[in-house]
Amino acid sequence: MLRISVEEFLFWKKKQLSKGGDQQSFAVLLDCIGGISMSDLNLICINHSGNINLKKNLEFLESVWDDHLIRSCPIQYLCGISFWRDLKLKVSNKVLIPRPETEIIVDIVFNIFREKSEKLFFAELGTGSGAIGIALALAYPMSEGVVTDIDQDVLEIASTNYMNYSKQSNLKFYCGNWWSPLASFKGKLDLAISNPPYIPRVTYENLPKEVKDFEPKVALLGGEDGLKHIREIIQKAPLFLKEKGWLILENHFDQSEKVKELLSKNKFTTIEIVKDLSGIGRFTIGRYK
Ligand SMILES: C[S@@+](CC[C@H](N)C(=O)[O-])C[C@H]1O[C@@H](n2cnc3c(N)ncnc32)[C@H](O)[C@@H]1O
Repeated sequence: MLRISVEEFLFWKKKQLSKGGDQQSFAVLLDCIGGISMSDLNLICINHSGNINLKKNLEFLESVWDDHLIRSCPIQYLCGISFWRDLKLKVSNKVLIPRPETEIIVDIVFNIFREKSEKLFFAELGTGSGAIGIALALAYPMSEGVVTDIDQDVLEIASTNYMNYSKQSNLKFYCGNWWSPLASFKGKLDLAISNPPYIPRVTYENLPKEVKDFEPKVALLGGEDGLKHIREIIQKAPLFLKEKGWLILENHFDQSEKVKELLSKNKFTTIEIVKDLSGIGRFTIGRYK
């Protein structure tokens, strides 16, 4: 641990932020590498006197911050950590950085299944860091969940994240294409969730550098029209859901109506478009018959 004065630290912080970047990314750097949590930071900003302890020196922290600014590499990849809801998740460049808007998926589930003692059987398809599956397994401890991903390395990160939070074993990890590793669970699911790759090709080609150059293509690209994976997930969902089971999908900002149509064609009812905090129809949900 290194001890420096709060005054020196705040002067240094101001200098770093004047070079560019945003407060939130800077807070991730301080927490994950510097050992200064967001609540420590709030206290420091209120009371400028005294000293603070840092896990790494300012030169090292500055070099990581510069790397982030110069290469546009997301700070989460440089720190190996991403914050999502109340979770601190390990990430690598194999894994999509879980987005704040996706946090709403968990609230959608909470609205549908209000009893936390509920014994649900749920699946999350394309789990990435495990964020959604882990949040649900922790919130519904009597439930059983299965999560899938196409990439075994991704699943290892997701399962490490789960083990960091839970001593239970109510979440299992399966590698393979969408539903295929879940063949033994046909007709058994109360709920399936997915935030699949849904970016249309042309949009993908024009994504900002910090996304396109660093985040995994397999986690983003949804074929020509962005709906390739959503179509596959919806078409096979009836085989896996119980009657009246729920399917919750995240989609691109302009795909909700098309996703609604696909759900309807595949015998889903109670179809609803749920908006994100910016008022965008970001989620489409439905019940199988
Ligand atoms: C948009 S990311 C979502 C990750 C995570 N669920 C989240 O919300 O942050 C999509 C995930 O689907 C996985 N994926 C892509 N193609 C897949 C496929 N054919 N079968 C299963 N998973 C797939 C990717 O590896 C990636 O982890």
